Amino acid sequence: MSLEIKLNCPSKKRALIRKKILDWYDANGRHDLPWKGKDIYKIWISEIMLQQTQVQSAVPYYKKFIDQYPDLESLFQASLNDIMKIWSGLGFYRRAENIYKTSIRIQNEFNREFPKSYDEILTLPGIGRTTASAIMTFSGNGHYSILDGNVKRFLSRFFSLEINNSNLNSLWELSQYLLSVNRPSDFIQAYMDIGSLVCKKSNPLCNKCPVKKQCSSYPYKSGSAYKSKKTKITEKNIWSLVIINNKGEFYLEKISYDNLWRGLYSSPVFHNESDLMRWSKSHKIEEFIEYDIFTFSHKLSHITFTFNAILCNIKYHKKVSLSEDNWYNLSDIDFGIPKYQDKIFNQYKSIYDYN
Ligand code: ADE
Repeated sequence: MSLEIKLNCPSKKRALIRKKILDWYDANGRHDLPWKGKDIYKIWISEIMLQQTQVQSAVPYYKKFIDQYPDLESLFQASLNDIMKIWSGLGFYRRAENIYKTSIRIQNEFNREFPKSYDEILTLPGIGRTTASAIMTFSGNGHYSILDGNVKRFLSRFFSLEINNSNLNSLWELSQYLLSVNRPSDFIQAYMDIGSLVCKKSNPLCNKCPVKKQCSSYPYKSGSAYKSKKTKITEKNIWSLVIINNKGEFYLEKISYDNLWRGLYSSPVFHNESDLMRWSKSHKIEEFIEYDIFTFSHKLSHITFTFNAILCNIKYHKKVSLSEDNWYNLSDIDFGIPKYQDKIFNQYKSIYDYN
């Protein structure tokens, strides 16, 4: 059975829905986003940033990134550390690694030009169907539709189709089915804008929706796909050993912990206090530990971390088994650090001032 029949959306109705969505976009959509245009490089950077970050948080990072690396040739000069530094604070650092890996692949495999075929783009690190489609469509290379979280929610409410694995293909088909072939770029932006500004996760603004009359969930039929699942927040404890020496320098390590902040630099972190103690024993710094714990909370969209920071004030280096290369003065840190480390620096920099 075709989607048209299954979901009662004959082509006349489809044309009306398209028109209403595009008219709404012309009047209310976000037209002033800084990545608007057809430059495929800039669209790629913006789409990677927007994968797990909201528009208003991404904009300043995007501007800074493009100021520093306005095109592919300038990006080819950047090291992974340079990219990590710009990404510092934006979170989900795997994305910065993906940009670096892509830069290398474009130099080696694509003759230093961003590929313009959907299938090639899909092979690049960190790019799935929606990101590849957005890059192709926004840059004027075809009409590929998208199915990010916003579009899924909008379509699932619109057609009363629950979001689950067995409906995923239907949702993709519907997304492509409604897409305007004449204005595909505006249409996918309209999808995203309606999803995030009107058909919101909680308290959707149905009265402002241009297609409420056609929507099968309006006004909130019970049992429909109206209700969105709440994001589950996980809670985690982290132990951090804040090591400072008598010159006021901090001992920082490149992180491999949990992959979340991989590639950034921070005070050594551990899953629990006993790992921290074992580590301090093996590095012969146990005697300098001060048991006054600084506890603070650090929230990400899906996890709340409770940090337990323990100070280790190294008075002399005799016997201590820590690498000489990992000591940093706060004023010459020129690499990426996670946001939580800023909180640690703020808490302990007064000790550093007095030293
Ligand atoms: N999320 C992903 N891509 C986006 C875009 N181009 N505009 C707004 N939100 C987005």
